[in-house]
Amino acid sequence: MKLSAKEFMSSIDFDWKLYEEEIECSIAHANLLFEHGILTEKEAGKIKTALNDIRNEIQGGKLKFQVENEDIHGNIQAFLLDKVGWLGNKMKIGRGINDQVVADSRLFLRKETESIMELLNNMLDTLENIARENVNSIMPGYSHLQRSQPVTLAHHILAYYQMFSRDKVRFGNCLGGINLLPPDCGACAGTIFESDRSAMARELGFDGILPNAMDAVADRDFAMEFINCCAITMTHLSRFCEDLILWDTVEFDFIEIDDEFCTSSRIMPQKKNLDVAELIRGKSGRVFGDLINILTIFKGLPMSYNRDMQEDKVAFLDAANTVESSLALFVAMIKTMKINRGNMQRAAKYGYMNAAELYEYLAEKGVDSENRVHIVGKIVEYAINNGKPIEELWLDDLKQFSKVFDSDLYDKIAIRNVISSKKSEGSTSFESVEKQLEKIAKAKENE
Ligand code: ARG
Repeated sequence: MKLSAKEFMSSIDFDWKLYEEEIECSIAHANLLFEHGILTEKEAGKIKTALNDIRNEIQGGKLKFQVENEDIHGNIQAFLLDKVGWLGNKMKIGRGINDQVVADSRLFLRKETESIMELLNNMLDTLENIARENVNSIMPGYSHLQRSQPVTLAHHILAYYQMFSRDKVRFGNCLGGINLLPPDCGACAGTIFESDRSAMARELGFDGILPNAMDAVADRDFAMEFINCCAITMTHLSRFCEDLILWDTVEFDFIEIDDEFCTSSRIMPQKKNLDVAELIRGKSGRVFGDLINILTIFKGLPMSYNRDMQEDKVAFLDAANTVESSLALFVAMIKTMKINRGNMQRAAKYGYMNAAELYEYLAEKGVDSENRVHIVGKIVEYAINNGKPIEELWLDDLKQFSKVFDSDLYDKIAIRNVISSKKSEGSTSFESVEKQLEKIAKAKENE
């Protein structure tokens, strides 16, 4: 593709997405100019009406952005001049493009952060419901993707609950850094216009004003932090998708996901692919890329504003868009999840994960450690060869391996009892999972 220099420098093909913020900030700026006596009430009214009309006409498809007008600021300014003539030039007093772009970006990212936090709330409510319905659903707990200890599905789901609730806190912290209005910066040193932006900050819902004009135009750590939060959330989503993809295979057969989120092949009808989950897993890559992109753009920049910075929007617009659509679709998808509890429980039973309890039992009966290892190994081998879980072997069979076995063994190695025997905080025991759920309910009440 061959671009002219003008086309190459233009950012309107991506920063048009900030048009609402550009208009909101401009309306607040017209109010500021009125307060400072630069615009009469009538002039300010005329400009604000024009800006509102511009918004409606953009939304109605009547106004088209032009590459010649460079970016969103140039385009809105050109629309304004068309509507109010020379008066529109007064809007240049008391602000510059270097601070305008920061105000728009911060306002945009505040809104995005709030909507992501809302999506995370939906995610948390959905996971809480699934956990509550599955406090008795037994499944294998995996480490190294090998069956390691029996757990409940509630315990597994609550692990993800914790990850996403930390994501929400992380976005909440990020919001504090985003929600500040730049002062009137000039290029970077400020201007001779003595303006008070506190009313403007309040009108736009900002918490305050950035204290240094050079920092305000030069730095984008608020956008870096935002993308970082997005990247971590995508990591969590991607891992969860990987679990669902595994669970949905014939090999696991733990769950079923609604066809809406899957594709199948006409010539391989036995195969149902969890495409939405695979795509969320795949799209995490672009958000990690967005993070590397923005960090790289800034790492070599001299103070203060440099045109390279225009590219920051490519990164944060993509990150916001990807994380929002991924979260929304993930929640919709997991709401359709049907759980094959029988298969999960069977996998736990045939996981021989109570071998550890067998070992403990032998220790309690005074068998020395070398023999314990030997006996347990032999019993597991025997159980596998006979196609039975350990707890379904007869006592007489077990006695062949050691005389110390008695009927009290069966209670100890029953899978439910293995789960309820856990005493440590945050464990999978039914009691502990109930406690985890109680804490979640309490925290919600206090929100
Ligand atoms: N489109 C530019 C950006 O996003 C706006 C700022 C350009 N500054 C300027 N003085 N022309 O960075």
